[in-house]
Amino acid sequence: MATEPLPRLDSDTEIRKELLPYCRLKLGDVWEDPLRGHRVGVLDATCPNAVMKLMSPKRAKIAVNDPPYNVSVGNKTTQNLSKLNLAEYVEFSRNWVKNAIEILDEDAHFYAWLGADQKDGFQPLPDFMLMMREFEGLQTRSFITMRNQRGYGTQKNWMAVRQELLYYTKGNPDFAVVYTDIPKILRGYYKTVQGKRVENLERSRSDTIRPGNVWVDIQQVFYRMEENVPGAYAQKPLKAVERIIAACSSEDDLVVDLFSHSGTTLIACERLGRVCYTSDIDPIFAEITIRRLEHFRQTHRTGFQFHNPFKELETTSEAVGTKQEDQLTIF
Ligand SMILES: C[S@@+](CC[C@H](N)C(=O)[O-])C[C@H]1O[C@@H](n2cnc3c(N)ncnc32)[C@H](O)[C@@H]1O
Repeated sequence: MATEPLPRLDSDTEIRKELLPYCRLKLGDVWEDPLRGHRVGVLDATCPNAVMKLMSPKRAKIAVNDPPYNVSVGNKTTQNLSKLNLAEYVEFSRNWVKNAIEILDEDAHFYAWLGADQKDGFQPLPDFMLMMREFEGLQTRSFITMRNQRGYGTQKNWMAVRQELLYYTKGNPDFAVVYTDIPKILRGYYKTVQGKRVENLERSRSDTIRPGNVWVDIQQVFYRMEENVPGAYAQKPLKAVERIIAACSSEDDLVVDLFSHSGTTLIACERLGRVCYTSDIDPIFAEITIRRLEHFRQTHRTGFQFHNPFKELETTSEAVGTKQEDQLTIF
């Protein structure tokens, strides 16, 4: 079923040729937002000088990174599309993590989204976790799982619906408690406070529950949602990124994301009054990131839904792409 005006943009060479002339940045460039000072670069996250160029001379309070997962789902015949061998992937991770830590404040938060390939020894999640132990300045804080609504492997296996989020801290940064929209419904945890027996609902500060480290309340992005960005094959839900940023930063704090893609972290920062420095190695995704910000400021819409972010391309009503359903996805 074709539902989007753009196909997956990393692998479609024809559409890439058409879009590249409309991209205002090339590898090595950094754009600075004249209004709020956000930055968007076309940079390789594994290159120390490139990352320094993005940041100079600032340091971030929080890094929210969503690198390629090296995990493929879907169509088996094309499964090896841009998948690295594990040693290469770990080396790639070591390099970008090193750069990301360099640009953090003394007291800061570090997040990395990741996956575990159940068809391939659960790589790279455990390998990434072990590699992270090399960075002694970071403390492990939480291992969060976010539940997707759609998955794969329903007939002969448990449906794969999880995405992993690793949380570390450097120094001693502040953390603010945040809540979900899920009402508290379970009663029955009694406790005696100052001689009076009170139950959990009486004691709580909120009528809704905290997210904890298993997030089940976040809708996976699909083409009908306002925040959808056609062509972005690995877009994270804004709600998830906003949750992280709200808990771990304050107004005007600097947030960094070295794997921008559809620009979710930038939009989250714009909405929450933070400043975002972000980059992607692909000029098309850097352009999409800038366009998403401009579109948000013009329309207050968080994404393009099923409309083409590249209006210059005359598209017919025939849609040419799908999102994460019947095509191969390597996150
Ligand atoms: C999983 S996506 C990030 C999704 C993003 N969080 C979002 O919500 O749209 C990973 C992105 O990393 C980019 N990427 C891959 N290798 C990179 C590298 N060495 N340096 C910077 N970006 C890279 C890809 O082009 C892709 O856009």
